[in-house]
Formats: sequence, C-alpha cells, structure tokens
Amino acid sequence: MAAASSSSSSLSLVIFFCFFLFISEATVPPSNTFHFENSGDFGDTNEIFTEYAPLDYRILRLPFAVPFTLCFYNTTPNAYTLALRMGRQADRSVKRWVWEANRGRPVGENAALSFGSDGNLVLTDADGRIAWQTNTDNKGVVGFAILPNGNIVLRDAAGRFVWQSFDYPTDTLLYGQSLRVGGLNKLVSRASVTENVDGDYSFVLEPERLALYYKKTMLYWSSTFPEVNKASGGLVNATLEIAEAEYSDGNYNSLRCRLANASNEPTVLLGTNRYNSTLSYLRLGIDGNLRLYGYRREANAVAWSLLYTWFNREWSNSLVGIEDECQLPERCGKFGLCEDSQCVGCPTPKGVYAWSKDCVAKSPGCQASGFRYYEVKGVDHFTVKYSSGTGPVDQKACESKCTKDCKCLGYFYHTAGSIEVLDRLRAENVDEGWELNAYRIH
Ligand SMILES: *[C@@H]1O[C@H](CO)[C@@H](O)[C@H](O)[C@H]1NC(C)=O
Ligand SMILES: *[C@@H]1O[C@H](CO)[C@@H](O)[C@H](O)[C@H]1NC(C)=O
Ligand SMILES: *[C@@H]1O[C@H](CO)[C@@H](O)[C@H](O)[C@H]1NC(C)=O
Repeated sequence: MAAASSSSSSLSLVIFFCFFLFISEATVPPSNTFHFENSGDFGDTNEIFTEYAPLDYRILRLPFAVPFTLCFYNTTPNAYTLALRMGRQADRSVKRWVWEANRGRPVGENAALSFGSDGNLVLTDADGRIAWQTNTDNKGVVGFAILPNGNIVLRDAAGRFVWQSFDYPTDTLLYGQSLRVGGLNKLVSRASVTENVDGDYSFVLEPERLALYYKKTMLYWSSTFPEVNKASGGLVNATLEIAEAEYSDGNYNSLRCRLANASNEPTVLLGTNRYNSTLSYLRLGIDGNLRLYGYRREANAVAWSLLYTWFNREWSNSLVGIEDECQLPERCGKFGLCEDSQCVGCPTPKGVYAWSKDCVAKSPGCQASGFRYYEVKGVDHFTVKYSSGTGPVDQKACESKCTKDCKCLGYFYHTAGSIEVLDRLRAENVDEGWELNAYRIH
C-alpha cells in the first residue's frame, strides 16, 4: 500500500486482499514440484522381461512405493506412454504395466511431465501440445504420491485425494480399484502388443450387470445378478477385493459389486489366494479374456502367478472360470469353429475343413447373382448365449435381409421354440460388416 490509511473501507480492502492471497497461496511447495523430461539414457535393457517387450523405457526419479515406479515406455519408436510399472528393479520376473495416462495419445522424445505450484500434473509434448493432464490447477493440491497399492494421488492440505489414478483405469484394475456407474465404468483392451491404442474388447459395469463386449455392441458375456432389483437401486461400483471363502481354506479374490441401497452384494469369485495377494490385478487382455495376476514381493524369479482366467479350457470339468474359451470372439480367428476351447474346423461351401489361421469368410459383394448361401448346421455365434436375436421371422425374410445388405456375410437362423433371427452380427459401426467369429457346435 502506497499510503497507510486508517479509514475502515481501506482496511476491509486490505483484509479482503489478504484473504484472497491466502486462498491462492494454498499451492504446492517448491520442494514437491517436479519436471521430468523424456530424454537421456534408457533403462537397463539387459534387465529381462518387461511386458510388451521389446521396448525402451525411462524411469522417472520420483519417490515411489515398491514395487511401483512411474516410467515413459514405448513399443514403437518415438511414441511414448506415461505408465505405472509393477515389479521391483531387482526382480528377475516380468515387470508389468498396470496403469497408463495417455493411451492412444503418445508423446515423443523430450516430452515432459510437470507438477507445478498450481497443482496440475501435465504431460506435454516437445512442441508444447498437452497430451494428458489431471485438470487440478488451483484446486488446493499440495502434494503428489505413489501409494503402496499403486494408486497415484494428488492430495490437498487435509490429505484428501483431489485426483487419483484409481479413478481412471485403462485395461487393468489393481486390488482396491473400482469401476463406477456414472464414472469411469469400463476397462478397454489394448489393440496389440505393439499398438497401444484401444482394442476391440470392453468390460463394462452397467446399472444392472457386468458385461463384456466385442466391438462395442456384441455381447459375449454378462452377469446375472438376482440381487439387482428395483428396491436395491442397481449397481454403483465394482471393486477388486478379497472375500472370505465360505467353503474352502484361504480367501477368494473377488470382484465385489455394490448396490445403491442393499446390504447383500453380488460378487464374482476369482480364485483363491495363495499368499498376501493385495498386490494383485485384473486385466482385460488383448484377446478379450480377463485374467487375475498375483505378485509376491518375497519371490525373486517367480514373483508373478496367474490366479484366475475368466474364459478357461478347464471350465467344464473343474468349474474354473466363467465359460470355456469358445466364448471368446476371436478364439478361432474370424471364421473358425470352436468346440471345448479347441479350433475344430473352417466352414466352406464343400463342407467343414480343418481349421487354420487363414480361415476367413470372403466378402460376397453387392450383386445378389454373385453369391449363394450354404448351410452349416448346429453352430452358434458367440453372441447367442447372452442376447436374443430379432424376430420371430421366417427364414426367407431373414435371408433377404442379409442379401440386401452388402456387408452381410451370412445369418444365423434359430429354429428351436419360437423362430428367431440372429442378426446381432451386423453391428452398424463395424466397417468389415458381419463378423462370423467363433461358433459353438452342439
Ligand atoms: C434404492 O435406490 C433407488 C435409486 O438409486 C431408488 O429409486 C429406490 O427407491 C431405493 N429403494 C429403497 C428401498 O430405498
Ligand atoms: C462403492 O459404493 C458403495 C455404496 O454406494 C460405497 O459405500 C463405497 O464407498 C463405494 N466404494 C468405492 C471404492 O467407491
Ligand atoms: C499385504 O500386503 C500389503 C501391501 O504391501 C500390506 O499392506 C499388508 O499389511 C499385507 N498383509 C499381510 C497380512 O501381510
């Protein structure tokens, strides 16, 4: 103030001014801010096995919680993902990527991760383009931490999480992490080992069920939860937890779903614990299968074990898993026949031939005179079990519907009981048109 004044109006101005300053001063102390550039030497490439190898990675020298570290990694040159890695440096076991900031929006050399005094965590490319951020500027954030459960958090002065990575899963749920109805409610698979973009599979928490989709619309599994009804108000969240086992030794890993207003909670049991498996995660794989992995920190060369596989070839004889592998949309490629988790044949106009990876359906084109139909008896499509077709309709009408659609490769016609046409295959948003993927032979 240039001139001191004793008038009350300027005093209140001073008080107001100070108060305002105080609010905006709730910032990140300089010692907690950081700026890391994606440049320099790569991590030890002799260090064996990192998931999606061969790849390059750089570890960010941030305070971390064993076995988690934050890294930049790439699987194609100059396309880096900021990701959380699980596995100790000293382990001779595979290290795995359990959370990612910027799938589908990679950054290049000299990109930077910064956490400034305003409390925003920002990933910028070398040209200044923002690839990813937490949008937490001026929201009272004072600190950053990676917690022992793998949750990356931005905290305010009272210790509350203003932002947490657990709210933004990609294809992985760590122990304690949730899907939420009305929030981030799904896992989306990775396209391939080398391409870190969204793949074809999603695992979704809906108000009434858990569901697995192929190409966004084709359902290949869904839960039936009798607990969900009008009074219970539907599902709210699904959390990877450990549940007490009623009939067996040890506890179950479980995916426990919470209902809006009921105490009994629908739970999907995912195999028993063999050790402290709070260091475990559920992953929607590149192939559309869900697998639960456990990590044992005392072990060195064999820190990981596969605790549970959702679609499992052991399913029929030992009740492991939810379904057998034939329920996976591309288990036998785009057109193969699957039985008891095995690829058993490839349909052709001359009959069913031996299956190979080349088993695909040729697109018939638009000229009705240019193709004819042939019949394959006793097969189902993977969508049949969890969704009904349209109809009733007679077979001629069903066939003509397919004929009129240039993208249609064939149709499923169901004769048991009421007549149904299964035309789920013609997903409007699928460019390749009909996908006759895994069948099930009865
Ligand atoms: C449960 O919650 C839903 C909405 O979430 C509500 O419509 C319903 O009335 C509630 N039921 C009870 C018994 O409170
Ligand atoms: C899940 O929902 C329940 C019921 O609304 C709630 O009490 C619980 O805190 C939620 N859990 C998580 C991890 O969000
Ligand atoms: C299991 O591991 C977690 C995470 O490291 C730890 O906090 C917890 O105390 C362990 N529990 C037991 C029973 O050892």
